[in-house]
Amino acid sequence: METIKVNLGQRSYPVYIGQDFLARVGKVATDFHLGKKILLVSDDQVDELYGGKVRASLQEAGFCVSLAKVPPGEIHKSLSQTIKLYESCVESKLDRDSTIIGLGGGVIGDLAGFVASTYLRGVDFVLLPTTLLAQVDSSVGGKVGVDLPQGKNLVGSFYQPRFVYADLTVLKTLSWQQVKEGLAEVVKYGMIKDAEFFGWVEKNLERIKALDLEAIDFAVRRSVEIKAKVVEADERELKGKRQILNFGHTIGHAVEASSGYRSYTHGEAVALGMIGAARIAERMGYFPSPMVERLKGLLEAIGLPTCIEGVDEEKIRGALQLDKKVRKDRLHFVLPRKIGEVFLTAEVSPDLIKKTLQDLTK
Ligand SMILES: NC(=O)c1ccc[n+]([C@@H]2O[C@H](COP(=O)([O-])OP(=O)(O)OC[C@H]3O[C@@H](n4cnc5c(N)ncnc54)[C@H](O)[C@@H]3O)[C@@H](O)[C@H]2O)c1
Ligand SMILES: [Zn+2]
Repeated sequence: METIKVNLGQRSYPVYIGQDFLARVGKVATDFHLGKKILLVSDDQVDELYGGKVRASLQEAGFCVSLAKVPPGEIHKSLSQTIKLYESCVESKLDRDSTIIGLGGGVIGDLAGFVASTYLRGVDFVLLPTTLLAQVDSSVGGKVGVDLPQGKNLVGSFYQPRFVYADLTVLKTLSWQQVKEGLAEVVKYGMIKDAEFFGWVEKNLERIKALDLEAIDFAVRRSVEIKAKVVEADERELKGKRQILNFGHTIGHAVEASSGYRSYTHGEAVALGMIGAARIAERMGYFPSPMVERLKGLLEAIGLPTCIEGVDEEKIRGALQLDKKVRKDRLHFVLPRKIGEVFLTAEVSPDLIKKTLQDLTK
């Protein structure tokens, strides 16, 4: 088992990464002196696969565990499920010393974390992420929340878990589509902070694709280290430093929103957004063309899209404008200077955005 510490003063916490260690989570919960009552939040699919093991381990360690199941899917990262979970908290008689554990992907983590951050003004929270995306991204950094019909992640808070416990073995039951969702963010980490890591992903892609756990271990560990460092420098996204994690997400979100979240998954949209940002930087003279080709090559080798099909360019620009309105200022982009280094800028002209999107949708 490896440990990566997320250093946030009193809110610091460890991320444990290991193999086949779900059955030992009860021991770790005991070491953390968690209160006796635990509400385990999971979705039907994940509970069926791994819930039994987690419950048995916690019960063996003396905890009193109740289960709250949520149907799988982003549509259930909602206020109505939040209310149902509050009801489960009441039924299970959770008190201020109790803990909510989220066992699942990013949907479960965000939802369970939001309930933990608000029930009784905050109870302890633990994450057992079970998708690659959740292990490399959503379980680190403390953003929790739910969607509204009007948009994703519109209600939420910053709330750090007591610990994150990532068992790599559970990734074996993911579909390849789900693995790719995580890999898009892994490529992002290489692009924003670590050229060597980017090169390692290029070289080890076949092992990663085969879910060789040694390779996956390194990919998850390095991703968590990078995200932790960025979050440590700007926990609440107030200093302009955490925004670099949005590399690929400006155009990415616009692609997702303008197609009603139907044409592309989040990971695919982020791949498109990274290519869009790289092309903008290339045209502004910041990012050399061979580097754009290298990024494109890696995304294609993973099987992520690098040109936009079936979504209207004007619609994407419309969605970008909406983003601008929310911020009440110019549209911000995270652009690459080289592989491993990005910067935040508000200096991208509307004309250049239009040209880049036209090229991407050709
Ligand atoms: N909080 C953050 O900082 C942050 C960052 C990135 C993404 N997110 C959020 O994460 C969510 C997406 O997360 P996701 O991609 O993990 O999707 P998800 O949580 O919807 O999980 C995807 C599917 O995989 C299934 N599943 C999960 N683990 C499995 C396993 N080990 N084996 C087999 N099936 C499994 C689930 O039942 C579900 O159907 C979005 O809501 C997004 O907003 C949050
Ligand atoms: Zn993302």
